[in-house]
Amino acid sequence: MMTANEIRDSYKKFFESKGHVIVPSAPMVIKDDPTLMFTNAGMNQWKDIILGTKSPEPRRRTDSQKCLRVSGKHNDLEEVGHDTYHHTMFEMLGNWSFGDYFKEGAIDYAWEYLVDVLHLSEKDIYVTVFEGSKDENIPRDDEAAKYWSKHLPKDHIIDGNKHDNFWEMGDTGPCGPCTEIHIDSRPLDKRNGVLGRDLVNKDDPQVIEIWNIVFMQFNRKSDGSLEPLAMNVIDTGMGFERLVRMLQGKHSNYDTDIFQPIIKRIEALSNYKYGFTSPTGKDGECLTDQEKIDVAMRVIADHLRAVAFSIADGQLPSNAKAGYVIRRILRRGVRYAYTFLNQREAFMYKLLPTLVSEMGAAYPELSAQEELIGRVIKEEEDSFLRTLEKGITLLNGAMDELKAHGQSCLDGKEAFRLFDTYGFPLDLTELICRENGYTVDEKQFDMEMSQQKARARNAAVTENGDWMIVRQGEQTFVGYDYTEYECRILRYRKVTQKKHSFYEVVLDNTPFYGEMGGQVGDQGVLVSEQETVNVLDTKRENNQSIHIIEELPKNVEASFMACVDTDKREASAANHTATHLLDYALKEVLGEHAEQKGSYVSPTTLRFDVSHFQKITEEELRKVERIVNGLIRADYSCDEHRDTPIEEAKKMGAVALFGEKYGDKVRVVRFGPSCEFCGGIHAKSTGSIGFFKIVGESSVAAGVRRIEALTGANSEEAIYTQEDTLRDLKQMLNNPKDLKVALKKYIEEHEAMKKDMESLRKQGVARHAKTLIESAKEVDGVHIVKAVLEVDSSSAKDIVFKVREAFDSKLICVLGSVSGNRPQISVMLSDDMVKEGKKNAGKVIREAAQLIKGGGGGQAHYAQAGGKDASNIDAAVDKAVELLK
Ligand code: SER
Repeated sequence: MMTANEIRDSYKKFFESKGHVIVPSAPMVIKDDPTLMFTNAGMNQWKDIILGTKSPEPRRRTDSQKCLRVSGKHNDLEEVGHDTYHHTMFEMLGNWSFGDYFKEGAIDYAWEYLVDVLHLSEKDIYVTVFEGSKDENIPRDDEAAKYWSKHLPKDHIIDGNKHDNFWEMGDTGPCGPCTEIHIDSRPLDKRNGVLGRDLVNKDDPQVIEIWNIVFMQFNRKSDGSLEPLAMNVIDTGMGFERLVRMLQGKHSNYDTDIFQPIIKRIEALSNYKYGFTSPTGKDGECLTDQEKIDVAMRVIADHLRAVAFSIADGQLPSNAKAGYVIRRILRRGVRYAYTFLNQREAFMYKLLPTLVSEMGAAYPELSAQEELIGRVIKEEEDSFLRTLEKGITLLNGAMDELKAHGQSCLDGKEAFRLFDTYGFPLDLTELICRENGYTVDEKQFDMEMSQQKARARNAAVTENGDWMIVRQGEQTFVGYDYTEYECRILRYRKVTQKKHSFYEVVLDNTPFYGEMGGQVGDQGVLVSEQETVNVLDTKRENNQSIHIIEELPKNVEASFMACVDTDKREASAANHTATHLLDYALKEVLGEHAEQKGSYVSPTTLRFDVSHFQKITEEELRKVERIVNGLIRADYSCDEHRDTPIEEAKKMGAVALFGEKYGDKVRVVRFGPSCEFCGGIHAKSTGSIGFFKIVGESSVAAGVRRIEALTGANSEEAIYTQEDTLRDLKQMLNNPKDLKVALKKYIEEHEAMKKDMESLRKQGVARHAKTLIESAKEVDGVHIVKAVLEVDSSSAKDIVFKVREAFDSKLICVLGSVSGNRPQISVMLSDDMVKEGKKNAGKVIREAAQLIKGGGGGQAHYAQAGGKDASNIDAAVDKAVELLK
């Protein structure tokens, strides 16, 4: 029996033998496409080729792509674990033809691979073809049906509707009719005369789609219309986990060698047994205990993969966007472990070594970052477990209420409270409710959410119009060599954000660097004979520079001079080069585990995130600064290698980033000992950075530290500011020779003075107390002490306590005190005065304090009140005595 790793290889080798180039998987986390957070299909990384904005060479390619389907148009989250063949993260085997072979070739290759190479039984193969759509004006795909009939009898070729047989990447973008390949894996003795064709696309767990071949022919525009693509593209996607299951003769993807090692580890750690059940009830309703355990184990195994691979690709869990998707998935896993496997402590991170030993060879980014991934997962688990129990108790209470009132829908406000206070993602609350037969008022939840968002800030709604094509062509970036270049507009579109509109423009040649790899985009101008247009910013989308301009030029056909603002660009370049030197120095000082985890480079500042598991000490930071400044003084010039084959770049020792998408040719940038894969703009030599100064070190996430630093004129200014502060300090101390000695002396003197003052104060307290005690008058057997003194609040307190010590019974002591025009009254009673609630200092003082326009309170035997009007202090004291008598 072939192992999963052998099957993956066999696919790529088969297509290699058919003239396809084997290419690596793109990262699962997408960084430069605003329409998509995660790779959800193998074709994502080829979107620009399919749309004709990038060269299609080589025209035949094959790979195995890490995909995640948890949001947007393709979302399988709810199915995961409940059935046996959906996953959040999965691998998609693909072969591509960009304007090379089309329907017949793709169908013939698929057939040859499945039947001749893998020896799947022809009788168990069914295919679907698109039945056509009147609305879209697309006829039935007779062509695909004709090519299939070379291999399969007519009753194995089934018409399918738009939902199943017209594949679209998202609401907009490449799309086309497709043909799906389904396998009937039911054991022969269990088929009971039911034909496989009747179970195709009927959610039967044994008759499932394994391969989808898309005939990309259209681009869906934002108004919903279809425009034909310039070339025909074959995009195929085979579910790797499903294929492995078929070939290993298992009933469930989770029973293959892809998942079993993880499930075995879950069993060993949790002391629960996996029962190999596959529930028929959906989403947790009416499950047996064993089924619940099995669902939980599958979910945890699946979610672990999704989370670990995302972190490996540089996406840490967070509160926004892609980071929140990862946090949601992780929290779901934690809750399953908590509820069904009784895990009260962090659990998922313990499974990581098993995953790494199974998949680390095929995906080295996983093994290289094992320690970081483990720490991040554990920290996330710990933090959610702190509120999970409280949240679950609250939710159970709410569901009990619903039951008592015969209701079935949880209030959205309650769901929002769980989200806001206890960190329960909405889908988790919904899941738990569903398990108990309840729904959640999502509308209400959304309303609460948007109200909160509106409170925080105005929601940014972005509307992208369609690209208006001015002329066909690809963009060439010339910004490594030029800051001015002649260009023409290829296409533009209008974008509306927060009710503000601007235009995005793609030029044929551009010196403008689009924001990427942490470096902000260039600013500048486009100048034609008639007009000048400001470029406010440059972004990067699908590897192209997108120029942001406020107003469209009057003549979009004109030719322009594109001019970059060179001051800003040079400052950014110096900062970018400094991050490379910093990266090098951090590895030297902290060790090889110190990987870059993010960066931000603007003309004024630089930020660099690095994996390290404790605070970077002051000494370490100083060492880093010394190394970086040494490299600056050495004035290494920029040794740039463009279009270097990736293998050669690795041999040069260039540092690559995990989660970054690299082609087979890369750019390598070297400054002395620092050598990195990098597409950014750099200083001509390190000397122009001037001086490097770290100004901040903090934590951003578990195991990730952030360094903020300045270079050039900015770091110089920072030093001047510090010097100014020191000079001011010196002046304040009368310009001593040695500031440290002088300041130390000053502090010592200050401490001594404080001591003297305190002893003086104590003497004063004793003196005043003595006078007060002597002034006591006895009225009806009660000692009455009253006075107004100029003392501060803590002395007043000490005085009345001293007075009380002098009398063991029947005492009323009222002291008015004034300090710096602030009046205060203190009332002290002996215990026998307050016994049985006879008198109460706290109550009395509230009334008396009105006379000094103040308030206060305290206990029955002692209370203090401050006020604003010192002129009435005597009256207030008399009033208190009066009330207490
Ligand atoms: N794009 C198609 C899919 O994702 C085929 O790869 O199913």
